[in-house]
Amino acid sequence: MRAAVSLRGVLSALLSLLLFHEATASVTVRKTGRAPTGYEVEFRYINATARRVLIGGGLQPFTDQFHTTGTLHRTNGRFDPHDYQPGDFWVSNPWPQLPEDYVWPYEMRRSADREDEWVYTAPFPSGTYTYAFLPDCDYAPNCTVDTGKLVVDPDVPPFMNVPGDQLSSNFVVPFDAKFQASPELNTNFDYTLPAPHPCRNRGRVLHVNYTSPGSLHPAKDVHDFVIYLPPGYGRSKTKKEYPLLYLSHGANGNGADWENLGRISHIMDNLIRLGHIPPTVVVAPTFYNLDASHQDGKKFLYGNRSHTVPVPAARLVRENYEKYLFPFVESNYDVCRNSSCRAFAGLSMGGVLTYEMLVNATDRFDYFGLFAPATLPPYLSDKDLARNPALKKKGIFVAYGLYDFVFQWARDLQDALDGLGIKHVTRVTPFGSHAWNAFQDQVWFFGKTVLWKPLPLNLRGRR
Ligand SMILES: *[C@@H]1O[C@H](CO)[C@@H](O)[C@H](O)[C@H]1NC(C)=O
Ligand SMILES: *[C@@H]1O[C@H](CO)[C@@H](O)[C@H](O)[C@H]1NC(C)=O
Ligand SMILES: *[C@@H]1O[C@H](CO)[C@@H](O)[C@H](O)[C@H]1NC(C)=O
Ligand SMILES: *[C@@H]1O[C@H](CO)[C@@H](O)[C@H](O)[C@H]1NC(C)=O
Ligand SMILES: *[C@@H]1O[C@H](CO)[C@@H](O)[C@H](O)[C@H]1NC(C)=O
Ligand SMILES: *[C@@H]1O[C@H](CO)[C@@H](O)[C@H](O)[C@H]1NC(C)=O
Repeated sequence: MRAAVSLRGVLSALLSLLLFHEATASVTVRKTGRAPTGYEVEFRYINATARRVLIGGGLQPFTDQFHTTGTLHRTNGRFDPHDYQPGDFWVSNPWPQLPEDYVWPYEMRRSADREDEWVYTAPFPSGTYTYAFLPDCDYAPNCTVDTGKLVVDPDVPPFMNVPGDQLSSNFVVPFDAKFQASPELNTNFDYTLPAPHPCRNRGRVLHVNYTSPGSLHPAKDVHDFVIYLPPGYGRSKTKKEYPLLYLSHGANGNGADWENLGRISHIMDNLIRLGHIPPTVVVAPTFYNLDASHQDGKKFLYGNRSHTVPVPAARLVRENYEKYLFPFVESNYDVCRNSSCRAFAGLSMGGVLTYEMLVNATDRFDYFGLFAPATLPPYLSDKDLARNPALKKKGIFVAYGLYDFVFQWARDLQDALDGLGIKHVTRVTPFGSHAWNAFQDQVWFFGKTVLWKPLPLNLRGRR
């Protein structure tokens, strides 16, 4: 009897411990089978002192092709997700300016169940969404970590090496063909969902610190990268040499972006599972903080708008990677040792770095992916090509969104390549702004059409 009572005591103590550690926030994605999208997302967040809570951290209102332009201060439908219609998508709005830019659809309400809890529920279409809670914030894009009005979901921590490196969490919503079909736009992002059969189909993604003299972050002389190891990596008795893709972030980002904002591990798992590429190792390095001479040395925090770090010159980044990163990766992982199974790709300023690799590390890589490249002239000349004829033998992919502010720059780069007869594959993302839904689409098509395909590329029959 006594024993039973004390057991109950222990259980209730355990229970109160559990209650004490209860979740303070949550995001639930639910299949509803109902219009408008077939799915709904419920956010919950406990905060007793806030007078108002918005959701931001990357979440954007929706728009459609009839209400979007590619100008810097673009026209944008700014639809509430409750009004979703097939063919709607979201674009980033880096320079809010119009009065309607200040109307924000993602406002939480006080929960009916408990006074200190905030709730927001809305239908969402297919895609990866990043978010953070914004207590006492009156305009989402202005509420950043340095204003103290951005709280990262404590129960869905971002993928990051050191706390503070990433300032938003994410969730993924599946596609439902019954409610979301818009064949002309391909807004089905199911390739960003976790692959089925985890043991067989899912790789691993982790942070690695490596010695890089001069580095300022995450520690003195220590730099970091993210590595994706495909399913089966390390399990074979005979040493395999996996093809190796380097994937760069853009301005104001870091290596964890590709996983935290882009879910690259899911995309790779699905490219491999569906037979578009063989199992491939991906390394996503960080081009900031390589050393103090490259920029002002301050640690960049995603979402800290008052702190824009100058982008280090692509030439310096290439030299640094050649000295420290590439040798480290190639001597510590089962990766291939020749250009035919090495690729470099990147988005935006990472596309500029990819261009630098194409021009000045031509022999190291055979495949290059320039996603929304922010490249500016001067481009290659006939003289450069005459000195480096191998440029004509590479697998090159240039992609950009129809509504991306780098649209014209990327087109100019294509003109320069075309003018020299350097063949390349194009992808114009039909819903694309300078944002992660577009970069996901671009890396997906890079994998489907260019990566590790026999050179010269012949795309007929590949679709
Ligand atoms: C609650 O909101 C306040 C602003 O009123 C903010 O400073 C605080 O960090 C929030 N607390 C939690 C637990 O998110
Ligand atoms: C947002 O920040 C900008 C730049 O600091 C400022 O001009 C604008 O008034 C702010 N908007 C709101 C609604 O707070
Ligand atoms: C890398 O180094 C930083 C700073 O010492 C540390 O906080 C972090 O946990 C390390 N990460 C890994 C994966 O070892
Ligand atoms: C954001 O940037 C400002 C300006 O550089 C800096 O003073 C502040 O410490 C930064 N905030 C964080 C949280 O790093
Ligand atoms: C490059 O390395 C891969 C993987 O080890 C190998 O299969 C291929 O034959 C090599 N190619 C050349 C040209 O050496
Ligand atoms: C390539 O190297 C040359 C010589 O160092 C340099 O002038 C050029 O800026 C580099 N990058 C590109 C993209 O041409």
